[in-house]
Amino acid sequence: MQLGEKLAARKARLGVIGLGYVGLPLSVEMAEAGFTVVGIDSDPRKVEEIRARRSYIPDVKSEALGECVAAGRLDATTDRSVLATLDAVSICVPTPLSKTKDPDVTYILDAVAAIRKHLKPGQLVVLESTTYPGTTDELIRTELEGTGLKVGRDFYLAFSPERIDPGNRTHGTRNTPKVVGGITPRCTELAVQLYSQFIDRVVPVSSARAAEMVKLLENTFRSVNIALVNELAQMCDVLGVDAYEVIDAAATKPFGFLAFYPGPGLGGHCIPIDPHYLAWKLKAHDFTARFIGLAAEVNQQMPNLVVEKVVAGLNHQGRPVKGSRILALGVAYKKDVSDVRESPALTVIRLLESKGAKVSYHDPYVPELITESGSMASTPLTEENLRLTDCVVILTDHSSFDVPAIVSLSRLVIDSRNATRGLEGRFGERILKIGAPAPFAGAVALAESA
Ligand SMILES: NC(=O)c1ccc[n+]([C@@H]2O[C@H](COP(=O)([O-])OP(=O)(O)OC[C@H]3O[C@@H](n4cnc5c(N)ncnc54)[C@H](O)[C@@H]3O)[C@@H](O)[C@H]2O)c1
Repeated sequence: MQLGEKLAARKARLGVIGLGYVGLPLSVEMAEAGFTVVGIDSDPRKVEEIRARRSYIPDVKSEALGECVAAGRLDATTDRSVLATLDAVSICVPTPLSKTKDPDVTYILDAVAAIRKHLKPGQLVVLESTTYPGTTDELIRTELEGTGLKVGRDFYLAFSPERIDPGNRTHGTRNTPKVVGGITPRCTELAVQLYSQFIDRVVPVSSARAAEMVKLLENTFRSVNIALVNELAQMCDVLGVDAYEVIDAAATKPFGFLAFYPGPGLGGHCIPIDPHYLAWKLKAHDFTARFIGLAAEVNQQMPNLVVEKVVAGLNHQGRPVKGSRILALGVAYKKDVSDVRESPALTVIRLLESKGAKVSYHDPYVPELITESGSMASTPLTEENLRLTDCVVILTDHSSFDVPAIVSLSRLVIDSRNATRGLEGRFGERILKIGAPAPFAGAVALAESA
């Protein structure tokens, strides 16, 4: 049976390399569509969890995962030799940045080396990890063609960016349209056929390079627009205008405007990282991606701005930062998720600690936090703890937080997420919000560069 027929009949054996935030939901979706799926991860703990039918990704329910495992449609392993038995493989490994903000494609290279070892005629390989334009063609194709097999004839290769939005309750793997670009038209065709089996809408583009660029446009678009509203928040601070009121009113325009909101800075494994992949690639062509650089600069200032607000708020109450007890409320990079990768909360905590503050944190999704100064455990959010705290800094607006109760028990609240909306009148000088009129002179913060 040819690959196309096997896919249509859902008889193809599928593989996913990297079972994290992207790979695990993808594997479950494939298995639920009736495919036999093998997940390959270098972390044996993840493999054990899957085999024990326990999900470690909040968006994947253990019951759904368990049903797939029990039905024999999903298995996990660290053993890459299983690749030889697969008809199609999706690569979902991390793509971080090095310290110098250069792409770190070592995880991709490692996965591709394993695929190369077991590559067989008729196999389809799809890269889903976010990366710079040209990775699929320049790195992966070259490597896999090193076997003597030819792309588009003997094996098939495509790029399909993952768009998952952790914590999003309306859009998951199945109902988020998926862009696919192959190295050859046949590669695109087969990759479209694969994803069409379990994703509602698949959008083919002309090449893998175009598909890589689509993802980078999407994430650069977010980074630039977040930077714009972060700067707007600073402007509004200076001018005594409420940035949130301005954004919400602008969002009533039925065309030509999309609302973004200020915050303590960028976080997660995508927005703070991916635009740098594009900028790095363009550097080799003597092209400076100016918007990317400027957006990063503005967004990186935000933790400093938060800390300046803390300083201003404590100062107004006659307290120095040094020795003050500060509670960071929420450390995940966004609401209702447990992911702390690149979270601006880590920078805010570091900056406050460097000023001598005694920092603790509370996050219902993050029981333990590794910081530069060691590891911390989440402090219970009790009345007593709030009363003993000099300043609460809201860094993540988790839905479970009872913000009115928290503010009523706190001496000072610095709000970087507009979580205290509507409470300003009631609590007056107790709340200092980024991007809102200052309740007292001296509360305006002008971020210094980090
Ligand atoms: N997390 C998101 O919201 C999101 C959204 C869209 C795109 N992406 C992109 O998807 C990719 C994966 O991100 P993620 O958040 O799922 O990462 P993750 O860290 O949650 O998961 C990656 C997994 O890959 C495993 N792994 C690493 N190297 C491996 C190897 N050589 N062989 C087998 N397993 C290996 C790790 O153990 C881990 O379980 C990244 O490129 C990211 O930019 C992520």
